[in-house]
Amino acid sequence: MSSSTAAPTQPVVNVVSLNSQHPDHLIGLPCDSPLLSWKLASLQNGLHQICAELEAASDPSFNQILATTSLQGDAQLEVKAPGGDLDSREVRWYRVRVETASGWSGYSESLRYEAGLVSGEELLGEAIGDDSVHSDPATLLRKEFTVSKNLAMARLFITGHGVYESTINGSEVAGEFLNPGWTPYDQRLTLATFDVSNLMREGVNAIGVTLGDGWYRGKLGFENEFDHFGTKTSLLMQLELTYADGNVERVVSDGSFKVSQGELRFGDIYDGSSIDYNFAQPGWDSPGFDESNWSGATIRKLDKSKIQPRIAGPIVKIHEFPMTLTEQSDRVLLDSGQNISGWVRLVVDGKKGQKITVRHSEVLEAGNNLHTAALRTAKAVDTYVLHRDGRHTLEPRFTFHGFQFADVVTEAAIVSGVGIAISSDTVRRATFSSSDVRLNRLHENVVWSQRDNFVGVPTDCPQRDERLGWTGDAQAFASTANTLVDAQSFWRSWLIDLDLEQDENGDVAAVVPNILKDPPSSDWIMMGRAGWADAATIVPYSIYESYGSQQILRQQLQSMRRWTWALDGRRGENKFLPTQFQFGDWCDPDAPGDQPWLSKVSADFVANCFFAHTAELTSKVESLVGSEDGAEVFAQMAKRLKSDIWEQMGEEALSTSAGCSITLEFAICPESERAHVAKVLSEMVRKDRGKITTGFLGTPLILHALSKNGHPEEAYLMLMRREILSWLYQVDSGATTIWERWDAIRADGSINSGEMATENASGESPSMISFNHYAYGAVVDWMYRNVAGLAPTDIDPGYRTTIVAPKPAEGISFASAEVETPFGRLAISWRINKTGDLAVNLEVPFGATAKLELPVTNSSQIHLNGKKLSNGESISYGVYTILVSNPRIVEYT
Ligand code: BGC
Repeated sequence: MSSSTAAPTQPVVNVVSLNSQHPDHLIGLPCDSPLLSWKLASLQNGLHQICAELEAASDPSFNQILATTSLQGDAQLEVKAPGGDLDSREVRWYRVRVETASGWSGYSESLRYEAGLVSGEELLGEAIGDDSVHSDPATLLRKEFTVSKNLAMARLFITGHGVYESTINGSEVAGEFLNPGWTPYDQRLTLATFDVSNLMREGVNAIGVTLGDGWYRGKLGFENEFDHFGTKTSLLMQLELTYADGNVERVVSDGSFKVSQGELRFGDIYDGSSIDYNFAQPGWDSPGFDESNWSGATIRKLDKSKIQPRIAGPIVKIHEFPMTLTEQSDRVLLDSGQNISGWVRLVVDGKKGQKITVRHSEVLEAGNNLHTAALRTAKAVDTYVLHRDGRHTLEPRFTFHGFQFADVVTEAAIVSGVGIAISSDTVRRATFSSSDVRLNRLHENVVWSQRDNFVGVPTDCPQRDERLGWTGDAQAFASTANTLVDAQSFWRSWLIDLDLEQDENGDVAAVVPNILKDPPSSDWIMMGRAGWADAATIVPYSIYESYGSQQILRQQLQSMRRWTWALDGRRGENKFLPTQFQFGDWCDPDAPGDQPWLSKVSADFVANCFFAHTAELTSKVESLVGSEDGAEVFAQMAKRLKSDIWEQMGEEALSTSAGCSITLEFAICPESERAHVAKVLSEMVRKDRGKITTGFLGTPLILHALSKNGHPEEAYLMLMRREILSWLYQVDSGATTIWERWDAIRADGSINSGEMATENASGESPSMISFNHYAYGAVVDWMYRNVAGLAPTDIDPGYRTTIVAPKPAEGISFASAEVETPFGRLAISWRINKTGDLAVNLEVPFGATAKLELPVTNSSQIHLNGKKLSNGESISYGVYTILVSNPRIVEYT
């Protein structure tokens, strides 16, 4: 290292960003030394980072440097920040500069990192609430306090049981919803920290908090149950006022808070909210309010040792869709044009006492009627009662709906309706476009299903009485989610809970948080189910591949080990898992519609293959974290199991499309048999003219299984199919999100009733039909890798090496994609030009490499920026124009 070299005035390499592993806008972060990642850029080709220098300081100008680290080599991801762990509330600034053969870069912009509390025990107050029970009006809590002169800053630490919204002097603390989100509250409760300095004024101030049922004690699950985590809601908060002289004053939740109720008469995630403005107490959250008829707060129990700083972005509004309004004889029908998670913001002109009722649905039945049967017991109805004449803007609270349509019944005049879309805050990282508008719409539909189902936890669907963190759906969709957005913190938080919810055997729950401890039907087992529980290995490994994160592997290692050993411990004498209830290749379109677990491929085969896959992933992870012994143990376990499966269940592998896909993607068969299995699969697909014949487990794998094994034709045949049982059939049917069942809307336009053969506790057979389930959207990962041609690898993850392998196909004249990788923008755009050549524009970020696997024929020549090149070569960062003459075009029809 030549650190004495003065930085040139115009550095050739620039550090364009520096981040920790946590979302940039969160404060009150964990006190552990953060992991830093940075992106570099240079207009000069051929350089690489040979050294990096990181600094930690206690001030933004880096006058007080706390620690410096020098790092040889080209590591740019998750480098431990200098200076060690932080103290509670400590603020540090970090910056980095790097050295290349052309000298030092300048320093990055500095990264501000504000730690929260090391432990929940530092919250000095008590949890407080009232005597309300489930479905009572929301609780209002208020307290006045005085702020003296020279306040330097104010921080609000806040959490609770239930969901909360807070204001200071009547102003919203944050544009966030349904805090503290959903975790297994009895094991982990997340603490939010807000900078509320600007809301403070000298003199008397007031804090107001509204507390609702939320996931804590609201309705949850398909058994019409509530009070899952407890019967009493509560608030725990601490406001810290730090003065210029260093003096700190604290306002903590305690019995001196006053409680009452207001206009929010009811608020439930599934059922909706009821607001009656006649009960409003104007000014209740401002200073000077007459609280004489409010009661004292009741002290509640809350285990502070379970509190941890939040690490995932909050639930926020992400988009607004102006809705069309159509008068019907008895109501007004609203259409947002997009299936979303959220609610309707309604503006009405009305009179005191008038009532407004808003109902929601994803699709319409004949006669423009809302199809609400799919919601099952979720009412999804918002009501309002006006307390004065005039114009009102109405939004529900403590609820969200999965909907595109709404209808409003009221005597008031409706001025406008806007569909408000909410989602957990994740940054979009990728775009895709092609000459085929239907593929583009399919991509958008998947983007929306991701947004709509990343609400606090990764859910199956956002509309009915479910919205649960189904692990199977999550693993099926993980690679696609990771391609589309930066979901690292979202997953990291949920995976902590997946681990916490593993039982004493190590079995992983079917839903996380696990509220389905009792199965919906007596012979169902919810723990340790194949393809669901394997989210424990598949999701972290996908995060590793997509973002290059090793941290997630370390975080989840014990969870993976425990799950793999749990599987191992369950084997019988025949070395296989016992025959038990499994979800199987759930929703296989050939399974009886009312028994979606009865897929064609045998549940035993699926279960043992997922076991082998999990053992293999755990082995890889052991090796990546440096535990070679562990790696060997699990590798042997996987190897032996695979050969037993192949020997004893090989027939099964070859008899169904899901069986073949699983066999190929999990490498169950010996290398020598791959071509045969792939041929069998491709023949099945060809015979079915690309019809989808797989469910939740087979579908994410099948196109990969085909295209990686020499059959891109059949992969395209499936992707481009338009008749029913295809992705594009949904698009042609007007879908704006991905459906749960391939035939959710039948060819004759009728809506599948989704009847089920199971019964809930009340003896009812619930239907199961959703228009917003992301599992089948997993095809988008294939589209990025194969249509556009950008594929990350697990050998050199995080797109550090990207396989650039576009597969032009008949009827598709261009495609493009961009991914904001941890190294920067990776972009491809290809076109078949007039002479029939393939022209590719490629942008590779600094620190990354592209390995070219271009679609060539025997007579193709490749030119890169005008110079001849052979296929299979790797190129480093830069902007390139590539020309492939006589390219291979996939002819699939
Ligand atoms: C959910 C699915 C889930 C399945 C498993 C359904 O009710 O919506 O997406 O994976 O149950 O049984």
